[in-house]
Amino acid sequence: PLPSPYAVPLPIPEVAKPVRTTGAVDYYELDERAAEAEVLPGLRTPIWGYGGTFPGPTIEARSGRPIVVKLVNRLGEPTVLHLHGGHTPAESDGFPTDLVAPGAAREYAYPLRQRAATLWYHDHRMDRTGPQVWRGLAGMFLVRDEEEAALPLPGGERDLPLLICDRSFAADGTLLYPGLEGRPGVREAYMGGVLGDVILVNGAPWPELRVARARYRLRLCNASNARTYELATGGPMIQIGTDGGLLAAPRTVKAIRLAPGERADVVVDFSAYELGRRVELRNLAGEGAQGRVMRFAVDRDEADDSAVPARLATVEALDPGRAAVTRDFEFSSGGLHGGTGWLINGRPFDPRRMEARPKLGDVEVWRLTSDVAHPVHLHLDQFQVVSVNGERRSGPPEWKDTVELRDAQTVEIVTRFTDYRGRYVLHCHNLEHEDMAMMAAFEVV
Ligand code: C2O
Ligand code: CU
Repeated sequence: PLPSPYAVPLPIPEVAKPVRTTGAVDYYELDERAAEAEVLPGLRTPIWGYGGTFPGPTIEARSGRPIVVKLVNRLGEPTVLHLHGGHTPAESDGFPTDLVAPGAAREYAYPLRQRAATLWYHDHRMDRTGPQVWRGLAGMFLVRDEEEAALPLPGGERDLPLLICDRSFAADGTLLYPGLEGRPGVREAYMGGVLGDVILVNGAPWPELRVARARYRLRLCNASNARTYELATGGPMIQIGTDGGLLAAPRTVKAIRLAPGERADVVVDFSAYELGRRVELRNLAGEGAQGRVMRFAVDRDEADDSAVPARLATVEALDPGRAAVTRDFEFSSGGLHGGTGWLINGRPFDPRRMEARPKLGDVEVWRLTSDVAHPVHLHLDQFQVVSVNGERRSGPPEWKDTVELRDAQTVEIVTRFTDYRGRYVLHCHNLEHEDMAMMAAFEVV
């Protein structure tokens, strides 16, 4: 039986503390280890966690202030750390074959020359990202900057990281993953990706948070392997940000669609509700228990001097007309090692084969096409969506690092390769598709 919804309080992951600061660089240490967590009430779930917790600690950093994260692998399997949405030099980006062996450590340098944004970090080991993230290797990473700090947005306890993912459990609380013994990939029935029947927020099943009649900033992050959500409270939500940070201006929405890897920043004003009201965050894309996510219980009055200003940030528009080249990437299913898999341009991932060599500083348009739905994620730089099925996207520009291709779609994105040369990847963020080779390497030259 599934645990009852709204029976446990929403956990807020610890904020990581630097182990030291040298010059203007903060040093963090993340050790990956096996641990037990009480995910379902009364049961012990063996997990893998950064710092032994699931999710891992939240890293809070400032734009332009470099940090170094030392990853210590105390697990029995190789791992790779990737900062999703990070503008990171190639040697620290977590290329899928840059393994950290069991017992070894590696320093990842993040210069953070990027806008304030809601990022997250997770494992990125070639062929095994799905099962390793499923076991718990994921955490939130917030970048703040001056532009954002000058705004009266909700802050402190009212600025909430919400890492959302689904998992399945055996009766004893053990995580279930339909992997293949000793080989990458999942059983045939899970080719579409692995869905769980329990929805977790910050590692707790359908949790509840008591809130004041005030504005809250919800940093929604879809850390699920394969589930896409359509999140709604039943009332208005004000979206203020996407993967790559603040929008130019807020927009009122009824629901937020989030494919795996995507984030959205929204402000919900609970002063619109009377005391005692319970506000569900629902998933309109799910049915039954999977149609629920968490609940807010409005239980007190509190002063609130926050506001959502009509202008949030300056967002540069990238001009696709300046593109040096347009490249095509076709995401489709197909044979892999004689079996079935997921391919880009008809080929399975080969970490040694560069599918593109963009020049540093160039603007490029990448045309992505799909057979079935694929959330496509680009490393190194954020991008802007130019068109969907040939139709020019309207409205002010916004920065994304993951875009959902729906069935049989063509999405054109424009990006600019900045600051760092080297090898990066483009891939489907349905983690089972990713592990079944739906990834392409490129090198910025
Ligand atoms: Cu969130 Cu290449 O990954
Ligand atoms: Cu996919």
